[in-house]
Amino acid sequence: MLIMFFKIERMEEIKTGIGTKQDLYTQLLPQIISVVSDEPNAVANMANTVAALKQTFSYYSWVGFYLIDPIKQELVLGPFQGKIACTRIAFDKGVCGTAFTNDETVIVPDVNQFPGHIFCDGDSRSEIVVPFHHQSTVVGVLDVDSHEYNSFDSTDQRFLEQLLQQISKKLITA
Ligand code: SME
Repeated sequence: MLIMFFKIERMEEIKTGIGTKQDLYTQLLPQIISVVSDEPNAVANMANTVAALKQTFSYYSWVGFYLIDPIKQELVLGPFQGKIACTRIAFDKGVCGTAFTNDETVIVPDVNQFPGHIFCDGDSRSEIVVPFHHQSTVVGVLDVDSHEYNSFDSTDQRFLEQLLQQISKKLITA
């Protein structure tokens, strides 16, 4: 008698309930950390991170990574969820370049009021950009857009900074 064993791949699933954005981030972050923890591939980990964020927060219209291109000395688009976006951003341009160059999170309540904001999506109204690091050096940013004004606040900042700090090793291909 031939007995065959099949390896059953675990289906990754993100589950969050309802609640405040703080409740949702609190439920979501450990799940993202768990999903990326055993996977060494940075692209896969960035892709699942943005997918998990986008499917959890209805006010996210676009979420994605911009990564340092050390040869061209500019930011280049990484994994994202949402409409097609600008492929490259100079270090000194836009919200992404500003957050990257100053190595600090930028919250833009109204993108029309941010000098030099780059419109990849004409419907974008507010934005948050959070840098992340490899061995204490900034290597990229996570960019989130919303179609509503004033979507992002210190809660988004706190949890997104915490998330990136905890998973940054998993976003770099060694
Ligand atoms: N608005 C960004 C550009 C990237 S898109 O929003 C996806 C900026 O000003 O840097």
